This record gives sequence, C-alpha cells and structure tokens, in this order.
Amino acid sequence: MNRKIIIAIDGYSASGKSTLAKDLSNKLKYTYIDTGAMYRSITLLAIRKKIFHSDLWNIKNFLPFLNNINFQFQWNNKLNKTEILLNKENVQSEIRSIKVTNKVSLIARIPEIREKLTVIQRNFGNKKGIVMDGRDIGSNIFPKSELKIFMKGSIDVRSHRRFEYLKKKGKKISYEEVKKNIFYRDMMDLYRKISPLKKSTDSIEIDNTFISPEKQLNIVLQLIENIRFCKKNKNYI
Ligand code: DC
Repeated sequence: MNRKIIIAIDGYSASGKSTLAKDLSNKLKYTYIDTGAMYRSITLLAIRKKIFHSDLWNIKNFLPFLNNINFQFQWNNKLNKTEILLNKENVQSEIRSIKVTNKVSLIARIPEIREKLTVIQRNFGNKKGIVMDGRDIGSNIFPKSELKIFMKGSIDVRSHRRFEYLKKKGKKISYEEVKKNIFYRDMMDLYRKISPLKKSTDSIEIDNTFISPEKQLNIVLQLIENIRFCKKNKNYI
C-alpha cells in the first residue's frame, strides 16, 4: 500500500508556510513544490516582456508566452534547498526581488494564469509524496489531500520575520514597506474572485504568532503519524 500522502499547506503571506513545507520535505523525503514561486516566475517573465508598461489587458499578448512554459524544482546540494527553474533557467533568487513581490498579486488574479498553473500543479501530485504550499492548494488544487494545513500569524509578527529575512539578505527596505506589502498581498489574496485564500472546513489551522518552527513541525509530524495509523488500520476516511 502506498503510504505516501499529499500535504497541502495554505495561508497568509509570510506565515511560515515554506519553512514548514521545507522541514516536512526534509524529514519525510517528500518533494516540495512552492506554488508561490511559480506565480513569481510568471511575474518575472511578465516584467521581462514589459506587460506592466502599458495597461494590464495587454495580458492577451502575454498569454502565448505561457503555452510551452516549463517548471522544474531542483535540489541544490550546496545551499541545501529546492530551487525553481523556469524554462530551464534558475530564477530562484530573481523571483524574490522587491520588483517581483510588488507585482505578483496582479498576475495571481488573472484567470487564464491560474487555470494554467492548476493543471501543472495537479500533475506534480500524481505520485503523491509531495508537500505543496500556496493559497488554494487545499481548497482547489488538491481538495482531497490527506492533510490540509492553514497557517496564519499576526501581521506584525509576519512583517517582522520577513523584514529580518530581507535585512539578512542585504535588501534595502523599511519595516513599514514590508508591512504595507504584506497587508496589500493579504487583501489581494482574500478578495480576488478566483481561488481566493480561504480556509477549507477540513483544514487544520496553525497560528504561529507565538510558536517556533520546531514546535509547528512536531505538531504536523504528529498529525501525519495519526493519518498513517488510520490509513494502515483502514479506518481512514
Ligand atoms: O507564497 P508567496 O508569497 O511566494 O506567493 C507569491 C504570491 O503568489 C502571493 O502574493 C499570492 C500568490 N499565490 C497565489 O495566488 N496562489 C498560490 N497557490 C500561491 C501563491
């Protein structure tokens, strides 16, 4: 019996989704798929194609570039992390730029782009054994996944964590700017028409305002043990 499962992690920007997803993928030897990185990669492509220079409806001209788009997630041994390749180009660092971060919400609300990524993301789940994070994984991409986690945390704690992370990376940005961007992305995620950020009724919510990454990892590993136990004993629903 395949004991591997699909773990869907959704939640607010900078709520620690990727930290949890990476920890789980290391521990369980699961593939980690960062769907935010996919939206960011498309945003980078859009910036390069200058679609933001005129009005957004120029999107019709942009869509053909997505016809043969290709994503790969590759393990970097030196940095001990997974990196995203867009059309075979490693864009891991460029997609974290402020330029991309400020525009990604505009790309993530375009229906044709969401449809395209939905198909690609579902294909990653064919063999199970994946942990995928994003905004609509439990509600839309894998509504039948065995474990759905929904993460949140106070906006101040999330902004502070992101600010410290960017400072360490040498990025010149103020705390207020970081907070403003997180608030803006929260609003865009919550109120967009298609696949908004929404906790599904069968998700388990983790508010990590006051808990450490180690603690949240242990909570989720315990949940996975319970799921496996139920699966083995056939009282898995
Ligand atoms: O997880 P992240 O901050 O890297 O995601 C970047 C943006 O992409 C975020 O502002 C919302 C969007 N996104 C989305 O709409 N749906 C997903 N499944 C993942 C990300």
